[in-house]
Amino acid sequence: DDFEGSGVWRYAAALPFETGVSIEEGNTPLYTVPSIEDATGVADLRVKHEGMNPTGSFKDRGMTVGVKVSERLGVDRLACASTGNTSAALACYGARADTEVLVLLPAGKVAAGKVAQAALHGARILEVDGNFDDCLDVVSELADRGEAYLLNSLNPFRLEGQKTIALEILEQSKAETGEYPDRIVLPVGNAGNTAALYKSFRELVAAGDMDEDEMPAITGVQAEGAAPLVEAIQSGAESVERWEEVETRATAIRIGMPVNAPKALPGVRATGGTAVAVEDEEITAAQRELAQDGVGVEPASAASVAGLHKLREQGVVDADEQVVCLTTGHLLKDPDAAAAAGAEPVPAPADADGVLDVLGE
Ligand code: F0G
Repeated sequence: DDFEGSGVWRYAAALPFETGVSIEEGNTPLYTVPSIEDATGVADLRVKHEGMNPTGSFKDRGMTVGVKVSERLGVDRLACASTGNTSAALACYGARADTEVLVLLPAGKVAAGKVAQAALHGARILEVDGNFDDCLDVVSELADRGEAYLLNSLNPFRLEGQKTIALEILEQSKAETGEYPDRIVLPVGNAGNTAALYKSFRELVAAGDMDEDEMPAITGVQAEGAAPLVEAIQSGAESVERWEEVETRATAIRIGMPVNAPKALPGVRATGGTAVAVEDEEITAAQRELAQDGVGVEPASAASVAGLHKLREQGVVDADEQVVCLTTGHLLKDPDAAAAAGAEPVPAPADADGVLDVLGE
């Protein structure tokens, strides 16, 4: 396949195969964000924009590996539960691999752009009367019964691909600043990325490419209405308790049970990280702030920046830390949220004087 432009397969040495089903995922930008640096007082802040992947989210990095595995296994149906982005990526990579895709979505709780992607790439889309966690219960049972190959982040091959987020951040940071970042702040749903970051750091330490004390502090952010991992971190609990009721405008992370918590909790703790919850209003404010720096993201992604603000206010993050915020999905994923957060269109006549009138000039 055409893997040569892939930012994931560039790191084949860290992955289970040499190549995958690829549409040139990865190689995403690490942006400077001057106005957020000013607003947070963090002197060295960058944003790793995973919304710049082929389907507009980091999920592509996992799918290029996971769908490759499914090809090797010769399965005839791929499936996932999804808050939207996983379904878009699986539909796309499944199409590329010419394999049937089934996606289970929580009815009425998935952003428009994501459903449109799954539809156009030809997935069978079921809108389930339940939340994401219910969808995952059902699709896991289908997989256990041999009805489909599961491509949620419970699938460890997904996380292998997502390790390359860490590898790119480290490489880009080193190239631009001469150092690894002190902290990586990211939104948390199933805690797949959180687990993948930590696995990547441990492998680098084992290979002698990173000192243990150089591991960036893994810092997770959840919405107040769906914060089971934050609850576990803040209470010092051994494991995460499932929340049955969840709600947030950041529908991508409207998740009550982070299934990768057993891998993620030790990572947050061992790296000196933490976890924090933010209000929906704070997420929207951060989404506007990123947009002012030219970075268009969906609400869940803005949670990372909202969380950084909160941790600065709490004195948890120091001004002299080198920080990277991960933004996981593109603005166009959730056009309704973007429109609601942004400027209001105004009707105008089709002539210049009329337009100036409307502008009050
Ligand atoms: N940000 C976005 C935009 C997401 O779509 C997701 C997860 C996350 C963050 C959380 O990442 O699960 O690794 O902690 N979306 C999944 C989906 C659940 O179905 O698209 P995580």
